[in-house]
Amino acid sequence: MPEVTAARVPGTELTDEPLVEIKDLRVHYRTTKGDVPAVNGVDLAIRRGEILGIAGESGSGKTTLAVALLRLLRPPGYVAGGEIVFRPRGSPPVDLLELDERRLRALRWKALSYLPQGSMNSMNPVMRVADQFRDVILEHRRDLRGDVDAMIRRLLRQVGLDENVARMYPHELSGGMKQRVLMAISIALEPDLVVADEPTTALDVTIQRVILQSLGDLRDQFGVTLVVISHDMGVHAQLVDRVAVMYEGKVVEVGDVRQVFKRPQHPYTKSLIESIPKIGEAPWREEQRSRVP
Ligand SMILES: Nc1ncnc2c1ncn2[C@@H]1O[C@H](COP(=O)(O)OP(=O)(O)OP(=O)(O)O)[C@@H](O)[C@H]1O
Ligand SMILES: [Mg+2]
Repeated sequence: MPEVTAARVPGTELTDEPLVEIKDLRVHYRTTKGDVPAVNGVDLAIRRGEILGIAGESGSGKTTLAVALLRLLRPPGYVAGGEIVFRPRGSPPVDLLELDERRLRALRWKALSYLPQGSMNSMNPVMRVADQFRDVILEHRRDLRGDVDAMIRRLLRQVGLDENVARMYPHELSGGMKQRVLMAISIALEPDLVVADEPTTALDVTIQRVILQSLGDLRDQFGVTLVVISHDMGVHAQLVDRVAVMYEGKVVEVGDVRQVFKRPQHPYTKSLIESIPKIGEAPWREEQRSRVP
């Protein structure tokens, strides 16, 4: 009898393989004073179904890492080296850095989705919410034409908004509502990975909590894998499973968020943790206070 190993059980072969593996990624910006490394040799795995936080002060390279990962990097930025292995559901692994535009387009929204930093301010002011959804959905899935209106209503409900929001214009929405509309659009085509860059920055504390709750729900309800970028360690304490800390273009520490808070290994991580408001002042979700000593 041949020995039965987990690797031979159909459908389970890939269970331990991360959704994304970033290997020795280097991203530079060309400037008049020469090349500036913004991501300087990052190795990082994103596990299927997790919420991975990326922390670090302004300028540490968080957004550059995200846009390079999603192949949205624009000049003067360029990838100087590395590999990004992506394993979408139902298709073979690909190196995102090697894909041509046509194959990348096939992955946008359907497999890879992005909530850019400051995106609340970039909604088209003359388009109703429903039309903004329709554009994204129909550009990638014309076959859904007959279902789009019902889909929009369902997606709005899923992020805790009233269906009537579909008929509104961006100026009629609060910041928190806009952020939830954008979250709903980002999951419309059921992507494997959603990257949210500073999704709560510029929102007040109560709204931040609602947004973090909705992001947590997205993972719990849809099993989407989430990367949440924030300079605010309080956000990571409330929301993420694992956190990667960036400093000067490098990941200096990565681990289970509770462990990182309890026993930070890098002095920079310690200073980030010390800079957040003390418990009692911070907008913690009740059940997550226990995460932080
Ligand atoms: N277009 C650009 N041209 C030149 N340098 C850039 C450009 N964009 C970013 N950089 C530099 O790359 C580094 C990383 O920037 P990045 O925006 O990735 O940081 P960040 O961690 O997202 O910061 P923040 O918290 O402020 O959003 C910084 O030193 C920044 O000055
Ligand atoms: Mg940024």
